[in-house]
Amino acid sequence: MITSHIQQVQAISDNFFAENGRKPGMFIRTFGCQMNERESEKLHGLLSAMGYAESASEEEAELVLYNTCCVRESAENRVYGNLGYLKALKKIVVLCGCMPQRPEVITEIKRGYRHVNIIFGTFNKHHFPKLLLEYLTHGKQVIEILQDHSEADKDFDIQTTRFFPHKAGVTIMHGCNNYCSYCIVPHVRGREVSRPVPEIMQEIEALAADGVKEVMLLGQNVNSYEYGFADLIRKVNEVQGLERIRFMTSHPKDLSQDLIDAMRSCEKVCKQIHLPMQSGSSRILEAMNRGYTKEEYLALTDRLKGISISTDIIVGFPGESEEDFLDTLDAVKKAGFAGAFTFMYSRREGTPAADLTNELPKELVHERFNRLLEITKPQQLAHNQSYIGRTVTIMAEGESNKPGIFTGRADDNMLVHFEGSAKPGDMLEVEITGCKTFYAIGTTKKSLRNKP
Ligand code: SAH
Ligand code: SF4
Ligand code: F3S
Repeated sequence: MITSHIQQVQAISDNFFAENGRKPGMFIRTFGCQMNERESEKLHGLLSAMGYAESASEEEAELVLYNTCCVRESAENRVYGNLGYLKALKKIVVLCGCMPQRPEVITEIKRGYRHVNIIFGTFNKHHFPKLLLEYLTHGKQVIEILQDHSEADKDFDIQTTRFFPHKAGVTIMHGCNNYCSYCIVPHVRGREVSRPVPEIMQEIEALAADGVKEVMLLGQNVNSYEYGFADLIRKVNEVQGLERIRFMTSHPKDLSQDLIDAMRSCEKVCKQIHLPMQSGSSRILEAMNRGYTKEEYLALTDRLKGISISTDIIVGFPGESEEDFLDTLDAVKKAGFAGAFTFMYSRREGTPAADLTNELPKELVHERFNRLLEITKPQQLAHNQSYIGRTVTIMAEGESNKPGIFTGRADDNMLVHFEGSAKPGDMLEVEITGCKTFYAIGTTKKSLRNKP
């Protein structure tokens, strides 16, 4: 089915080529998390198979695709802003990903964004060729939203692009069952479904054979992977050619000792974990339906000694008191995070928290947000400073925008700008000579592998 739709669109692209002497252009913009990033690679692959070539900008493209996120209102507003701008450009506009799964978004699109031509959600990405063909043939707005995984993106992998030569995300599970009270993800990504081990291993082995050095295993809560996450990473650790394994996200309530042991014993698994705390107040954690207390979270960070921890924190959950907030500051100080993503609470229609009547005034949330940054930023700086004078192994990402300066990442994900020369995926020994809050600076001592 999908191949026939692909071929029919390709024939239309061939006509475009005959008339214009070039392929029709596509421009993809991705909002949101790594999972969306990965799915954009697959959508890019499908468009390539259908005869499209990448354009440098929205203006130059014939088709503009936004793969969207709805986790916070600010993410959605960025998309609406961009869509507004596209109106005058007269492009084929495709809106997909998490936003269209919210009924409120569909209503808004029908009301004020008639120029969005093709709309689909998270459960029918594999229908994209069919929907594009329908639009190209009839010229009318096409909307298709499904509500479950019953077709589970069948054949979505028929052709996929990789945005990076040396690293790739691998989705190991879809959806989420945790229903944190503030979160829209379970409502737009559906129930948790784990992919079978052989299927995942096949994908990773193919990536490694194709030159990928680093894989990131992706899921909303990898610790509840149905067939055993610790066993999975032990298996992935055996894949020839891989240098590094990362994963995200880990839910604190499901982090097992078995996983901590596996992280320590598998040499390719980076000694780094993203472990969202969300709040340091046990009372608020309960209202968030997180399933752990402040003390349990901190006990976990103790058990993770030697492994860098980064986190997510939400400020201003409804009913958060000054005392609750001070608990968060205290927990941040005690946990000593290598990095923290901080968010202001955003009300999401349809979640249990949206019904709470004790929302905080915006100014108060802003004030607390800034007070939190006064702790997390120096903490991250201190983390980076602890590397000064040491030589660390870096995987190169590529050249920075300054000639002669390259970027790469340490095992614990610290961003490093360094002098030397390298191509993506090269492993280098770099001496760290200085740092800022969000990156470190260094000089290459020697190249370990993969020198041309
Ligand atoms: N499954 C992952 C990621 C979820 S989305 C996890 O459980 O951590 C990424 C982050 O967005 C969350 O960790 C949370 O900190 C934040 N977030 C989710 N919903 C939010 C909301 N309604 N308002 C503000 N931040 C939110
Ligand atoms: Fe959202 Fe919680 Fe699921 Fe993460 S674990 S995606 S925060 S419901
Ligand atoms: Fe956003 Fe969807 Fe990811 S809501 S965070 S893009 S799962």
